[in-house]
Amino acid sequence: MKYETIHNLTLPKIGFGTWKIGGESSPDPKMDSVSLSALRSALELGYTHFDTAETYADGHSEELIGQAIRDMRVKRESLFITSKVEPRHLTYDQVLHSCEASLRRLQMDYLDLYLIHWPSAGMKLEDTFWALNQLVKDGKVKHLGVSNFDVKLLKQSQALSATPIITNQVPYSHSDRSNVKNGVLEYCQQNNILLTAYSPINQGHFRANQTLQAIAQTHSKTPYQIAIAWLVMQPRVITIPMSFNPIHIKENFDAADIVLSDEEMKQLN
Ligand SMILES: NC(=O)c1ccc[n+]([C@@H]2O[C@H](COP(=O)([O-])OP(=O)(O)OC[C@H]3O[C@@H](n4cnc5c(N)ncnc54)[C@H](OP(=O)(O)O)[C@@H]3O)[C@@H](O)[C@H]2O)c1
Repeated sequence: MKYETIHNLTLPKIGFGTWKIGGESSPDPKMDSVSLSALRSALELGYTHFDTAETYADGHSEELIGQAIRDMRVKRESLFITSKVEPRHLTYDQVLHSCEASLRRLQMDYLDLYLIHWPSAGMKLEDTFWALNQLVKDGKVKHLGVSNFDVKLLKQSQALSATPIITNQVPYSHSDRSNVKNGVLEYCQQNNILLTAYSPINQGHFRANQTLQAIAQTHSKTPYQIAIAWLVMQPRVITIPMSFNPIHIKENFDAADIVLSDEEMKQLN
Protein backbone atom coordinates (compact mmCIF):
# COMPACT_ATOMS: atom_id res chain seq x y z
CA MET A 1 0.00 0.00 0.00
CA LYS A 2 1.10 3.57 -0.69
CA TYR A 3 0.28 6.34 1.80
CA GLU A 4 -0.19 10.12 1.97
CA THR A 5 0.77 12.12 5.04
CA ILE A 6 -0.65 15.56 5.78
CA HIS A 7 -1.02 17.45 9.08
CA ASN A 8 0.61 14.48 10.90
CA LEU A 9 -2.07 12.17 9.55
CA THR A 10 -1.13 9.19 7.39
CA LEU A 11 -3.81 7.72 5.14
CA PRO A 12 -3.71 4.77 2.72
CA LYS A 13 -3.89 5.78 -0.93
CA ILE A 14 -6.76 3.32 -1.47
CA GLY A 15 -9.80 3.02 0.76
CA PHE A 16 -13.19 1.34 0.35
CA GLY A 17 -16.25 3.20 -0.94
CA THR A 18 -19.67 2.15 0.35
CA TRP A 19 -22.25 3.79 -1.91
CA LYS A 20 -24.82 0.97 -2.57
CA ILE A 21 -23.70 -1.01 0.50
CA GLY A 22 -27.03 -1.84 2.17
CA GLY A 23 -29.13 -0.24 -0.58
CA GLU A 24 -29.16 2.97 -2.61
CA SER A 25 -31.28 5.85 -1.30
CA SER A 26 -33.08 3.61 1.22
CA PRO A 27 -32.22 0.36 3.03
CA ASP A 28 -32.64 -2.75 0.90
CA PRO A 29 -32.61 -5.85 3.14
CA LYS A 30 -31.92 -8.03 0.09
CA MET A 31 -28.51 -6.34 -0.13
CA ASP A 32 -27.44 -7.02 3.48
CA SER A 33 -25.76 -10.34 2.95
CA VAL A 34 -23.76 -9.33 -0.16
CA SER A 35 -22.89 -6.00 1.50
CA LEU A 36 -21.60 -7.61 4.70
CA SER A 37 -19.57 -10.09 2.73
CA ALA A 38 -17.98 -7.27 0.65
CA LEU A 39 -17.12 -5.37 3.85
CA ARG A 40 -15.64 -8.52 5.41
CA SER A 41 -13.52 -9.16 2.30
CA ALA A 42 -12.25 -5.59 2.45
CA LEU A 43 -11.41 -5.85 6.17
CA GLU A 44 -9.68 -9.21 5.69
CA LEU A 45 -7.56 -7.82 2.85
CA GLY A 46 -6.40 -4.93 5.01
CA TYR A 47 -8.45 -1.96 3.83
CA THR A 48 -8.49 0.48 6.74
CA HIS A 49 -10.23 3.55 5.28
CA PHE A 50 -14.01 3.19 4.82
CA ASP A 51 -15.96 6.00 3.21
CA THR A 52 -19.67 6.31 4.00
CA ALA A 53 -22.38 8.96 4.39
CA GLU A 54 -25.64 9.48 6.25
CA THR A 55 -27.44 9.34 2.89
CA TYR A 56 -26.05 5.95 1.80
CA ALA A 57 -29.02 3.59 2.08
CA ASP A 58 -30.42 6.28 4.39
CA GLY A 59 -27.88 5.41 7.09
CA HIS A 60 -27.99 1.64 6.66
CA SER A 61 -24.52 1.61 5.04
CA GLU A 62 -23.15 3.01 8.33
CA GLU A 63 -25.02 0.31 10.29
CA LEU A 64 -23.52 -2.46 8.17
CA ILE A 65 -19.99 -1.03 8.37
CA GLY A 66 -20.28 -0.99 12.18
CA GLN A 67 -21.65 -4.51 12.18
CA ALA A 68 -18.90 -5.92 9.91
CA ILE A 69 -16.20 -4.33 12.07
CA ARG A 70 -17.71 -5.75 15.26
CA ASP A 71 -18.21 -9.19 13.68
CA MET A 72 -14.57 -9.27 12.58
CA ARG A 73 -13.39 -7.87 15.95
CA VAL A 74 -11.20 -5.30 14.21
CA LYS A 75 -9.79 -2.67 16.58
CA ARG A 76 -11.43 0.73 16.11
CA GLU A 77 -8.03 2.51 16.35
CA SER A 78 -6.69 0.55 13.37
CA LEU A 79 -9.41 1.98 11.10
CA PHE A 80 -10.15 5.32 9.50
CA ILE A 81 -13.87 6.00 9.13
CA THR A 82 -15.16 8.87 6.99
CA SER A 83 -18.80 9.94 6.97
CA LYS A 84 -20.64 12.92 5.51
CA VAL A 85 -23.38 15.32 6.49
CA GLU A 86 -25.91 15.88 3.73
CA PRO A 87 -26.67 19.31 2.20
CA ARG A 88 -30.13 19.50 3.85
CA HIS A 89 -28.50 19.29 7.32
CA LEU A 90 -25.98 22.13 7.35
CA THR A 91 -27.30 24.36 10.16
CA TYR A 92 -25.43 24.32 13.49
CA ASP A 93 -27.97 22.08 15.28
CA GLN A 94 -28.49 19.77 12.30
CA VAL A 95 -24.76 19.11 11.91
CA LEU A 96 -24.46 18.11 15.58
CA HIS A 97 -27.56 15.96 15.31
CA SER A 98 -26.44 14.26 12.05
CA CYS A 99 -23.05 13.40 13.49
CA GLU A 100 -24.62 11.87 16.62
CA ALA A 101 -26.95 9.81 14.42
CA SER A 102 -24.04 8.55 12.28
CA LEU A 103 -22.08 7.57 15.40
CA ARG A 104 -25.13 5.78 16.80
CA ARG A 105 -25.60 3.79 13.58
CA LEU A 106 -21.90 2.91 13.39
CA GLN A 107 -21.86 2.22 17.16
CA MET A 108 -18.67 4.24 17.45
CA ASP A 109 -17.49 7.07 19.72
CA TYR A 110 -15.85 9.16 17.01
CA LEU A 111 -15.44 9.63 13.25
CA ASP A 112 -11.94 10.00 11.85
CA LEU A 113 -13.16 12.36 9.15
CA TYR A 114 -16.42 14.25 8.69
CA LEU A 115 -17.24 15.90 5.36
CA ILE A 116 -19.83 18.31 4.05
CA HIS A 117 -21.22 16.01 1.34
CA TRP A 118 -22.33 18.69 -1.13
CA PRO A 119 -22.63 22.45 -0.92
CA SER A 120 -26.22 23.72 -0.83
CA ALA A 121 -27.58 26.98 -2.20
CA GLY A 122 -28.87 28.32 1.10
CA MET A 123 -26.06 27.13 3.37
CA LYS A 124 -24.36 29.43 5.85
CA LEU A 125 -20.89 27.94 5.83
CA GLU A 126 -19.94 29.95 8.92
CA ASP A 127 -22.58 28.09 11.00
CA THR A 128 -21.69 24.74 9.46
CA PHE A 129 -18.00 25.14 10.32
CA TRP A 130 -18.85 26.43 13.80
CA ALA A 131 -20.67 23.11 14.39
CA LEU A 132 -18.00 20.98 12.70
CA ASN A 133 -15.27 22.57 14.82
CA GLN A 134 -17.40 22.04 17.93
CA LEU A 135 -17.51 18.32 17.06
CA VAL A 136 -13.71 18.31 16.86
CA LYS A 137 -13.47 20.07 20.26
CA ASP A 138 -15.87 17.51 21.74
CA GLY A 139 -13.77 14.62 20.41
CA LYS A 140 -16.60 13.29 18.21
CA VAL A 141 -14.66 13.98 15.00
CA LYS A 142 -10.89 13.94 14.46
CA HIS A 143 -10.56 15.66 11.08
CA LEU A 144 -12.67 17.81 8.76
CA GLY A 145 -13.14 17.99 5.02
CA VAL A 146 -15.53 18.84 2.22
CA SER A 147 -16.86 17.17 -0.90
CA ASN A 148 -17.89 18.49 -4.31
CA PHE A 149 -16.47 21.95 -3.47
CA ASP A 150 -14.94 24.23 -6.10
CA VAL A 151 -11.81 26.29 -5.43
CA LYS A 152 -13.80 29.33 -4.24
CA LEU A 153 -15.75 27.29 -1.66
CA LEU A 154 -12.61 25.45 -0.65
CA LYS A 155 -10.86 28.74 0.13
CA GLN A 156 -13.89 29.95 2.10
CA SER A 157 -13.90 26.70 4.08
CA GLN A 158 -10.22 27.05 4.94
CA ALA A 159 -10.79 30.61 6.12
CA LEU A 160 -13.76 29.60 8.31
CA SER A 161 -12.40 26.42 9.90
CA ALA A 162 -10.08 26.43 12.93
CA THR A 163 -9.33 22.76 12.10
CA PRO A 164 -7.48 22.18 8.81
CA ILE A 165 -9.51 20.99 5.81
CA ILE A 166 -7.72 17.74 5.03
CA THR A 167 -9.59 16.69 1.90
CA ASN A 168 -11.94 17.65 -0.89
CA GLN A 169 -13.71 14.52 -2.17
CA VAL A 170 -14.58 14.95 -5.85
CA PRO A 171 -15.11 12.83 -8.97
CA TYR A 172 -11.79 12.07 -10.62
CA SER A 173 -10.89 9.26 -12.97
CA HIS A 174 -8.96 8.58 -16.13
CA SER A 175 -11.99 9.65 -18.14
CA ASP A 176 -13.33 12.41 -15.83
CA ARG A 177 -10.86 15.29 -15.60
CA SER A 178 -13.41 17.96 -14.62
CA ASN A 179 -11.58 18.64 -11.33
CA VAL A 180 -8.32 19.07 -13.18
CA LYS A 181 -9.89 21.54 -15.63
CA ASN A 182 -11.52 23.62 -12.87
CA GLY A 183 -8.26 23.93 -10.92
CA VAL A 184 -9.32 21.86 -7.87
CA LEU A 185 -6.54 19.27 -8.21
CA GLU A 186 -3.81 21.89 -8.54
CA TYR A 187 -5.21 23.93 -5.63
CA CYS A 188 -5.29 20.83 -3.40
CA GLN A 189 -1.75 19.81 -4.35
CA GLN A 190 -0.40 23.28 -3.65
CA ASN A 191 -2.27 23.77 -0.38
CA ASN A 192 -1.69 20.53 1.49
CA ILE A 193 -5.20 19.16 0.90
CA LEU A 194 -5.85 15.58 -0.19
CA LEU A 195 -7.99 15.12 -3.26
CA THR A 196 -10.09 12.01 -2.57
CA ALA A 197 -11.05 10.70 -6.01
CA TYR A 198 -14.55 9.25 -6.00
CA SER A 199 -16.04 7.11 -8.80
CA PRO A 200 -12.43 6.32 -9.84
CA ILE A 201 -13.70 3.85 -12.44
CA ASN A 202 -16.83 5.78 -13.41
CA GLN A 203 -19.17 3.60 -11.36
CA GLY A 204 -18.18 0.64 -13.52
CA HIS A 205 -19.12 2.42 -16.80
CA PHE A 206 -15.53 2.36 -17.77
CA ARG A 207 -14.11 2.09 -21.28
CA ALA A 208 -10.42 1.26 -21.42
CA ASN A 209 -8.74 3.10 -24.28
CA GLN A 210 -5.82 1.59 -26.16
CA THR A 211 -3.21 3.24 -23.91
CA LEU A 212 -4.78 1.76 -20.78
CA GLN A 213 -5.09 -1.63 -22.40
CA ALA A 214 -1.47 -1.66 -23.59
CA ILE A 215 -0.11 -0.59 -20.20
CA ALA A 216 -2.33 -3.14 -18.47
CA GLN A 217 -0.88 -5.85 -20.67
CA THR A 218 2.71 -4.78 -19.90
CA HIS A 219 2.05 -5.03 -16.15
CA SER A 220 -0.20 -8.13 -16.37
CA LYS A 221 -2.95 -6.15 -14.62
CA THR A 222 -6.48 -5.15 -15.62
CA PRO A 223 -7.18 -1.72 -17.18
CA TYR A 224 -9.26 -0.94 -14.05
CA GLN A 225 -6.19 -1.48 -11.90
CA ILE A 226 -4.07 0.73 -14.16
CA ALA A 227 -6.72 3.48 -14.01
CA ILE A 228 -6.60 3.33 -10.18
CA ALA A 229 -2.79 3.12 -10.13
CA TRP A 230 -2.60 6.20 -12.37
CA LEU A 231 -4.72 8.12 -9.83
CA VAL A 232 -2.70 7.14 -6.78
CA MET A 233 0.66 7.73 -8.46
CA GLN A 234 -0.32 11.41 -8.36
CA PRO A 235 0.78 13.43 -5.32
CA ARG A 236 -1.97 14.28 -2.81
CA VAL A 237 -4.49 11.99 -4.58
CA ILE A 238 -6.14 9.13 -2.70
CA THR A 239 -9.15 7.10 -3.85
CA ILE A 240 -12.04 4.94 -2.61
CA PRO A 241 -13.24 2.44 -5.25
CA MET A 242 -16.32 0.38 -4.38
CA SER A 243 -17.06 -3.24 -5.28
CA PHE A 244 -19.21 -6.15 -4.16
CA ASN A 245 -16.93 -8.62 -5.94
CA PRO A 246 -14.11 -10.09 -3.78
CA ILE A 247 -11.83 -10.42 -6.83
CA HIS A 248 -12.31 -6.74 -7.72
CA ILE A 249 -11.91 -5.73 -4.06
CA LYS A 250 -8.50 -7.41 -4.03
CA GLU A 251 -7.51 -6.08 -7.46
CA ASN A 252 -8.34 -2.53 -6.39
CA PHE A 253 -6.34 -2.87 -3.16
CA ASP A 254 -3.34 -4.30 -5.06
CA ALA A 255 -3.45 -1.42 -7.56
CA ALA A 256 -1.66 0.72 -4.96
CA ASP A 257 1.46 -1.40 -5.45
CA ILE A 258 1.66 -0.90 -9.22
CA VAL A 259 4.52 1.41 -10.14
CA LEU A 260 4.00 3.25 -13.43
CA SER A 261 7.03 4.73 -15.19
CA ASP A 262 7.28 8.44 -16.01
CA GLU A 263 6.71 7.52 -19.65
CA GLU A 264 3.56 5.53 -18.79
CA MET A 265 2.25 8.38 -16.61
CA LYS A 266 2.87 10.80 -19.49
CA GLN A 267 0.95 8.57 -21.91
CA LEU A 268 -1.95 8.18 -19.47
CA ASN A 269 -2.04 11.92 -18.69
N1 LIG B 1 -18.80 12.49 -2.25
C1 LIG B 1 -19.65 12.13 -3.20
O1 LIG B 1 -20.52 12.91 -3.63
C2 LIG B 1 -19.57 10.75 -3.77
C3 LIG B 1 -20.25 10.43 -4.96
C4 LIG B 1 -20.11 9.14 -5.47
C5 LIG B 1 -19.33 8.22 -4.80
N2 LIG B 1 -18.68 8.55 -3.63
C6 LIG B 1 -17.85 7.56 -2.90
O2 LIG B 1 -16.90 7.01 -3.78
C7 LIG B 1 -17.02 5.59 -3.80
C8 LIG B 1 -16.60 5.04 -5.16
O3 LIG B 1 -17.36 5.58 -6.20
P1 LIG B 1 -18.56 4.79 -6.91
O4 LIG B 1 -19.06 3.72 -6.04
O5 LIG B 1 -19.49 5.85 -7.38
O6 LIG B 1 -17.92 4.19 -8.23
P2 LIG B 1 -16.61 3.36 -8.63
O7 LIG B 1 -15.84 2.93 -7.44
O8 LIG B 1 -15.93 4.14 -9.70
O9 LIG B 1 -17.26 2.09 -9.35
C9 LIG B 1 -17.95 1.07 -8.68
C10 LIG B 1 -18.40 0.06 -9.73
O10 LIG B 1 -17.27 -0.44 -10.44
C11 LIG B 1 -17.23 -1.87 -10.42
N3 LIG B 1 -15.83 -2.24 -10.10
C12 LIG B 1 -15.12 -1.93 -8.99
N4 LIG B 1 -13.87 -2.40 -9.05
C13 LIG B 1 -13.78 -3.06 -10.23
C14 LIG B 1 -12.74 -3.77 -10.87
N5 LIG B 1 -11.53 -3.89 -10.30
N6 LIG B 1 -12.98 -4.32 -12.09
C15 LIG B 1 -14.18 -4.21 -12.67
N7 LIG B 1 -15.23 -3.53 -12.12
C16 LIG B 1 -15.03 -2.97 -10.91
C17 LIG B 1 -18.16 -2.29 -9.31
O11 LIG B 1 -18.86 -3.46 -9.69
P3 LIG B 1 -18.62 -4.85 -8.91
O12 LIG B 1 -19.36 -4.73 -7.61
O13 LIG B 1 -19.20 -5.86 -9.84
O14 LIG B 1 -17.14 -5.01 -8.73
C18 LIG B 1 -19.13 -1.12 -9.19
O15 LIG B 1 -20.24 -1.34 -10.04
C19 LIG B 1 -18.49 5.36 -3.44
O16 LIG B 1 -18.76 4.04 -3.07
C20 LIG B 1 -18.65 6.37 -2.34
O17 LIG B 1 -18.08 5.91 -1.12
C21 LIG B 1 -18.78 9.79 -3.13
